Amino acid sequence: MVAITFIQPDGASQTVTATVGDSVMQTALNNNIDGIFAECGGAMMCATCHCYVDDAWTDATGERVDGEEDMLDCAEAEMRPTSRLTCQIKVTDALDGLVVHLPEA
Ligand code: FES
Repeated sequence: MVAITFIQPDGASQTVTATVGDSVMQTALNNNIDGIFAECGGAMMCATCHCYVDDAWTDATGERVDGEEDMLDCAEAEMRPTSRLTCQIKVTDALDGLVVHLPEA
């Protein structure tokens, strides 16, 4: 069991249980997390799954994958150094306790 906390722009947070092997996006959808729409279903073609990885977790979540930065550039909310597409973050045991922040838009 891996716990992931999603924090809304207003500070409201929700901690959910994720399944190893799922993406953080799938975890958000499974738990009806506001702000993650995932219109392309994880094909990295929409940027509606944008999040800001908490500073403490940027190393654990790793580098952006090829093409991810271009898509983040199209995201409605500003791209920051911690921006990731949640569909490209795979849940592993090492991510137990992960915290991600959701953008305003
Ligand atoms: Fe579309 Fe992540 S779900 S880019």
